[in-house]
Amino acid sequence: MTTDAKILSALRANLNGVSGAQLAEQLGISRAAVWARIDELRKLDYDIAASPHFGYRLVSSPDALHADDLLARLGKTKVIGRDIQVFEQTTSTNDVMEKLARDGVREGVVVFAESQTKGRGRLGRAWLSPPRKGLWFSILLRPELRPQEMTQMTIASATALRRAIEAETGLKLEIKWPNDLLIGGKKVVGILTEMNAELDRVRHIILGIGVDVNQDATEFPPELRKLATSLKIEGGETISRAELATAILRELDFDYARICGGKFSDVADEWEAGCATIGKNVTVHIGDRKIRGCAESLDDDGALLVRTEHGHLERIIGGDVTLEK
Ligand code: BTN
Repeated sequence: MTTDAKILSALRANLNGVSGAQLAEQLGISRAAVWARIDELRKLDYDIAASPHFGYRLVSSPDALHADDLLARLGKTKVIGRDIQVFEQTTSTNDVMEKLARDGVREGVVVFAESQTKGRGRLGRAWLSPPRKGLWFSILLRPELRPQEMTQMTIASATALRRAIEAETGLKLEIKWPNDLLIGGKKVVGILTEMNAELDRVRHIILGIGVDVNQDATEFPPELRKLATSLKIEGGETISRAELATAILRELDFDYARICGGKFSDVADEWEAGCATIGKNVTVHIGDRKIRGCAESLDDDGALLVRTEHGHLERIIGGDVTLEK
């Protein structure tokens, strides 16, 4: 952890205040150095009160995401969030991550952007990523999975995101295969999983996650208002993006450990329990092909098994699923 992350952690652990001398001792730096760092944090809009009586006290944190702050809030994880980077603006966080992956950085690094100019979604769609309204981020993973097991990661990420968002907001989310999260039938989270693989070995996976957090309804283009929503619209409250981001990373870390530990079936059970797709009649578009039938279950690799109108069992690993009303 950086010095700033350690200071923020100590301030959060001592909400009634912590003295400069204590901080200096804890961090192994001088009191003047502590003061200088506090001054820098204030320039980033951390409201830190100081008095001879209670020492330094964190009054409020800015809405902007800061890597040190996210690291401090997250604490220790197994893999995901070992390193966090925040950009004010990027084309797509998946592009930034692809470069890092090719440079050989180790798995677990997370890249956030406050806005994206070329955010992309599944099936070549654009993903709107307005400044400071949502969480737009990518995670690099290097799991020991075969390419055909990749859907496991997709399923695990939807499960973890659902758990984290429900716990943080009290809202009820549904999963649409493979990994859209919906509230009242409207999409609030999208996940774009991009893989770099050889024939029988995954080199790396980039999980690109977009969560619509603090938009008002009017901030969505009219054509999206029936299809998409934000946590603020649904819950009626502005949400701390930093707090939500760290809750999500913690749950993703937990489910990634479950997958790597060979416990995909536990994840799959949880996924099925929260899934709006299983048991429903669906239409699946894969390129020009259209499959209609009933979504029966998931197989061991996370593929969707659809019983068609003609009684065949189709194994779906991609494409666009529409739930029939
Ligand atoms: C979808 O539902 O179509 C997937 C949307 C994924 C959006 C996220 S935002 C962060 C990351 N960077 C991107 O360009 N896309 C993903």
